[in-house]
Amino acid sequence: MARAVEPDPALLDSKKKMISGTYLRNAWYVAAWSDDLAEEQLLGRTILKEPVVLYRKADGSVAALEDRCPHRFAPLHMGKVIRGDRVQCPYHGLEFDASGACVRNPHGTKSIPPRARVRSYPVTERHKAIWIWMGSEPSDESKVPDFSVLDNVPEMHATKRDHITIRANYELIIDNLLDLSHTSYLHDGILGNSDTVESEISVEREGDDVIVSRHAPNAIAPGLFAILMPSLPDRVDKFTHMRWMPPSNLRLVTGICSTGARPESGTGYHAIHMLTPESDRTTHYFFTAVRFNVMTTDDALNAQIQQKISTTRRFAFEEQDAPVIEAQQEVIESAQTPVDPVILAIDVGPVRYKQILQKLIAVEQTQS
Ligand code: FES
Ligand SMILES: [Fe+2]
Repeated sequence: MARAVEPDPALLDSKKKMISGTYLRNAWYVAAWSDDLAEEQLLGRTILKEPVVLYRKADGSVAALEDRCPHRFAPLHMGKVIRGDRVQCPYHGLEFDASGACVRNPHGTKSIPPRARVRSYPVTERHKAIWIWMGSEPSDESKVPDFSVLDNVPEMHATKRDHITIRANYELIIDNLLDLSHTSYLHDGILGNSDTVESEISVEREGDDVIVSRHAPNAIAPGLFAILMPSLPDRVDKFTHMRWMPPSNLRLVTGICSTGARPESGTGYHAIHMLTPESDRTTHYFFTAVRFNVMTTDDALNAQIQQKISTTRRFAFEEQDAPVIEAQQEVIESAQTPVDPVILAIDVGPVRYKQILQKLIAVEQTQS
């Protein structure tokens, strides 16, 4: 008789160093950009492995319900929004209000069984995004990550609020964003180049946030930055300050300035990266950018720059980052020998954030 092969604990442990397979639940995650949810629309989205349906109530505010009818488990997002802020199941017509209670059964005596309800999730709308709270603790709006750089900016200087799905665990994407040395290789010529490999790196902690700064002096400006500065000098200093905010939201300030000058005197953009785990091996990736210290004054040129930043960043994430990160996921999943990573000087940020995230998750799990 064939013997079941026990998983090797050392191998599993080594994989957890790269992908823990756990989530912080009592936290805000982006469910969608505000623009992506129209009136009367039902948007189905899986978040932390849970099917969720989002819709706007009559007053415009957003509700989020479990996307699984308790009768025969049809997805509610295939139904419709009807009067009184209700969602009607597409299959046999049960109606649910925004609290998740079934408020109408059109069949038989029309009585409503006690188990006929779905979970509802706290939702808030901030910084042009819809945020959802997945945990069982009371939601706390003061914990919405600070993306106020997205508020009150002229649309001309904000790029498309975009979204892709990456077929990899969210932690691999945070690793990618907290170590921007990869821009010199994966995004060579666009976001980095051989001049930006040699950088002064500093890693700071502010509360539970981790900030990784890279300063590359005396570099040729990479393509996406070169278009931002009129009368571009031959050489510039390139700066990046990436802030990770638990569990998986990142805000980058990046740009170029004259060599030896203070970064504030330069120009660049705030780059927004919001990661929401869909499952253990897929992640919703929401992104946009907002220019600061805009030095180009011509409207037509600024419209071109807006378009260029939108398309280049999407290209960089979808065509350059995603293939490597998705391949990493495959390699780690299928490994038959330990995948204990070699740590380089560039890895201080990724190591630091993972310690904090794991601690926050451990505290949450011991309290629940
Ligand atoms: S599956 Fe929803 S009412 Fe039957
Ligand atoms: Fe990248």
